[in-house]
Amino acid sequence: MDNEVLKALRERRSIRRFKPEQVSDEALQAVLEAGTWAPTAKGLQDPWIVAVQRPDLVARIDRLNGEVWGHPTPFYGAPTIILVFGTDPEVWPNSLQDGSLVLGNMMLAAHAVGLGSCWINREREMFATPEGKALMRELGVDESLAGIGALALGYPASFPPSVKPRKEGYWRIIR
Ligand SMILES: Cc1cc2nc3c(=O)[nH]c(=O)nc-3n(C[C@H](O)[C@H](O)[C@H](O)COP(=O)(O)O)c2cc1C
Repeated sequence: MDNEVLKALRERRSIRRFKPEQVSDEALQAVLEAGTWAPTAKGLQDPWIVAVQRPDLVARIDRLNGEVWGHPTPFYGAPTIILVFGTDPEVWPNSLQDGSLVLGNMMLAAHAVGLGSCWINREREMFATPEGKALMRELGVDESLAGIGALALGYPASFPPSVKPRKEGYWRIIR
């Protein structure tokens, strides 16, 4: 069985080199809207999505994340960063799962509209720091929320040359 969605699921790859041009509004909105259609626990729509295109803020997020990780450019020079926040997992234990599904939808949508994306980790840690909290206030995000994950987003400048085959026995059916 095959169709466009199944093909996109197979062909989406993490992109780590981006063209400098900014993502079009139309494509960005398609990606963000796709995120909002992810299922969420109890249908509560717990996650909050913030797309950042202002170059000084993109650079700050990149630096802050890099300080947590020890990487000079963790967002790989992507012109757009999408941040996903959710209720602190200590308070609402489904927020990590909810936010991850939102991020998954957006990565697939990005691929479907000709963009490249890569999940970039360590938002929990970076938005727990005083500088991270200050940044949340600037972004208009309630500072009691937790960082769940982020995407580097832009037009791909290169694609991974190969993909790992799926591991043996990855799935099974018990009848
Ligand atoms: C939870 C999670 C965290 C990730 N964190 C990073 C990251 O910080 N930096 C990065 O370059 N890639 C990150 N990735 C991307 C993975 O490395 C990538 O999905 C994996 O190598 C498989 O490649 P593919 O997405 O092209 O299939 C992350 C992926 C997931 C699901």
